[in-house]
Amino acid sequence: MTRPRSISHDFTRREFLSVSGASALSLANLRPADAVTSPTQQTSPVSPTVSPFSKNFLWGASTSAYQIEGAAREDGKGLSVWDDFVHKPGKIHDGQTGDVACDFYHRYAEDIAHMRDMGLTAFRFSISWPRVLPDGTRAVNQKGLDFYSRLVDALLAAGIAPVATLFQWDTPLALHQRGGWLSRDMPRWFSDYAAVVARALSDRVTRWLTINEPRSFIGGAYVTGVQAPGERLARAEYMRAAHITFLAHGRAVQAIRANAHQPAQVGYACDVSPSLPATDSAADIAAARESTFSSPLDRFSGAHWWRENAWWLDPVFLGHYPADALAALGKDAPEILPGDMETIQQPLDFLGVNLYGGWLVRAGADGHPEEFHFPAGFPITAFGWQVTPDALYWAPKWLHERYHLPIFITENGCSSRDWISLDGKVHDPQRIDFTARYLQALARASREGVPLLGYLHWSLLDNFEWQEGYTQRFGMIFVDFPTRRRIPKDSDLWYAAVIKSNGASLM
Ligand code: FCB
Repeated sequence: MTRPRSISHDFTRREFLSVSGASALSLANLRPADAVTSPTQQTSPVSPTVSPFSKNFLWGASTSAYQIEGAAREDGKGLSVWDDFVHKPGKIHDGQTGDVACDFYHRYAEDIAHMRDMGLTAFRFSISWPRVLPDGTRAVNQKGLDFYSRLVDALLAAGIAPVATLFQWDTPLALHQRGGWLSRDMPRWFSDYAAVVARALSDRVTRWLTINEPRSFIGGAYVTGVQAPGERLARAEYMRAAHITFLAHGRAVQAIRANAHQPAQVGYACDVSPSLPATDSAADIAAARESTFSSPLDRFSGAHWWRENAWWLDPVFLGHYPADALAALGKDAPEILPGDMETIQQPLDFLGVNLYGGWLVRAGADGHPEEFHFPAGFPITAFGWQVTPDALYWAPKWLHERYHLPIFITENGCSSRDWISLDGKVHDPQRIDFTARYLQALARASREGVPLLGYLHWSLLDNFEWQEGYTQRFGMIFVDFPTRRRIPKDSDLWYAAVIKSNGASLM
């Protein structure tokens, strides 16, 4: 993990994952002697020709507007908080910006041709709210809307299902200046925007996500302040922003359904970090499950922010906040007005899961979960995130048991130190190994009957990784940023073969 501390002394999720040593590749399946160097997984042997996934399983890649589009000030686009934030000194690694990013705004046709060659059947992108509504409300920027319309047409022509996210963190600056996510007007502004987009695209787009990763969004934007708009609020304030974010989600679901030209499948993309059992004993599994959905106070600030799950899921899927969280938060809990929880709990078609890793726990002497530390030298990605494939088995399983919806893996992937080799190619064996392990864990969940809609790898292209700038390469396609030239990495070819076999080649 190379995240410079000069940008903030607070822990980001990334920093915490890297320094805590507590996120996890489950050791349940590791022999002590090879735990560090040869992690293996619980995958029961199956015939190599049998796919563990359903025949309609979607194979795709995930991206977001600010991270790939560029064209930050083109064709009438308004500014987002990110357009503003990146130009403030000291906020982003080496002063880098997403002004041009991957230039996807101009190069999307080339990228879609590439996706078609890979055999992708789904592509997740997010819509830039201020590209569509430069001030966030009222006047529509037709050129901005037309871009997404052309993008959707080109995807469909290539046989790729569009999966549209309404919000991946690029709040219109004009709305931020009017109170933004702290204002009770925000849910209405967001649903008006959702209605505009749904009217324009829902004749062709059927799969929708409202808000991307509310936990990371609030954490970066308002708790640690290392992401736009870079504020560090008191707990009562950021919990209020979280509540307003849930209300905006609910209102947007209503707006999509009310304006869609055909039945819409609507979901919510939550970042989930399960606690993983340290061994496969029943006691450790129960402890890990309990820890995954419990809400102690220390998960509502500071370093443990990225361990909380239930707060970010229960209101949306069960219609209430976790009782232990409300009790722990006391006066810092958000004000809940009559009708709020009904608005937040809209019927949804699937649960989108963004999953990069988990934490390791075991049953303590008193039966309660206790943290289990990884051995020194445990596998980590270039970002410093521990490689914990079993997270993609336990999380889908437990989330389905608790919320009873099909699971759609809307993000999963790793950064690695990729460069162009002397042979002119980009070799990324660690991404291949990482993805194979995680997909094998997902296959196990599938074989045990967890309904899975698909897997969207983060990411298609190397891109602007928020405050890290261009230092963290997550793509299956390498981007040479000075020229924006694309070079498929080895993982691109590998993923194409996995897709072709519907995952059977993984087994
Ligand atoms: C997720 C974000 C996504 C990207 C990946 C690496 O938390 O949703 O935009 O930054 O992490």
